[in-house]
Amino acid sequence: MHKIKEGTRMQSKIEFKTVSFVYPNQVKALNQLSFKIEAGKKIALIGKNGSGKSTIAKLIDGLLSATSGKILIDEIELNETTIADLRQKIGIVFQNPEDQIIGATVEEDVAFGLENRNLQFKLMKKRVNQALQDVGMLEYANINPNLLSGGQKQKVSLARSLALQPSILILDEATSMLDPIAKSEIKHIISSLQRKNKLTVIYITHDMEMLENVDQVLALDHGDLVFNGKPEKLYHETDILAQLAIKPPFTEQIKQLFKEHGYNPPVEYLDDRGLSEWITKLF
Ligand SMILES: Nc1ncnc2c1ncn2[C@@H]1O[C@H](COP(=O)(O)OP(=O)(O)OP(=O)(O)O)[C@@H](O)[C@H]1O
Ligand SMILES: [Mg+2]
Repeated sequence: MHKIKEGTRMQSKIEFKTVSFVYPNQVKALNQLSFKIEAGKKIALIGKNGSGKSTIAKLIDGLLSATSGKILIDEIELNETTIADLRQKIGIVFQNPEDQIIGATVEEDVAFGLENRNLQFKLMKKRVNQALQDVGMLEYANINPNLLSGGQKQKVSLARSLALQPSILILDEATSMLDPIAKSEIKHIISSLQRKNKLTVIYITHDMEMLENVDQVLALDHGDLVFNGKPEKLYHETDILAQLAIKPPFTEQIKQLFKEHGYNPPVEYLDDRGLSEWITKLF
């Protein structure tokens, strides 16, 4: 394994080469998927229930291994020999915070993943504190995690992943059970960490708002990759949107209305403010 100095951050890229996955009960979950995720980018992985999103997350984390095809992380093929090292680069947060709490205190919970990393106590403590600080939960370090709200628990789950200093962070519907405020807090925490630590972030989501701030969208339908590109481009692919049963974001719907009335709204994605500025200029 490459020796990584404490505190230095690696950036990681991922490549799938014609990857298929069939569950033992013969359910074909993924069909010959090929795509690249560049280091340090934010990706949204979307698709209806059962389209194969979580299966991709589990393949990247080596919880499952591909039936055929190759998965490369930083150009190293994921297989039985490389899995232990490659897994260290990956952090995953799942949907339900209740299922993820293990420790008796928040601090212990965050330290849990570090226990088999052979770190000195002082260093472990430092990592735990930093991770809790990053998610804004340091003041809760000595509290029983069961007393926390759903959003706070999910921040602790996030801290547990961050303490491992991953270069790839996968959020499998990690905010879908949270209220809008907690959702937006976690979104901001991740965005700022992503910039600070150059993380490669994969958001698995049903929440189209998430598409606003990603670099690349991968869309799955029944295990097939039906879109791979920038979110702005997806908004123009009406057939694919219909296939995925998603509506473009509100601002894109408004732009479409303007177009239908003979106006020429900018092609690039506009958020609420951008759109209202464009409309103000127009009139
Ligand atoms: N452990 C399993 N054994 C057998 N089939 C499974 C298993 N887990 C998932 N599947 C099947 O594989 C396909 C893909 O499932 P997956 O969980 O990857 O979908 P998903 O896109 O994450 O869905 P959701 O949005 O509901 O989380 C589905 O048809 C599902 O029923
Ligand atoms: Mg899933």
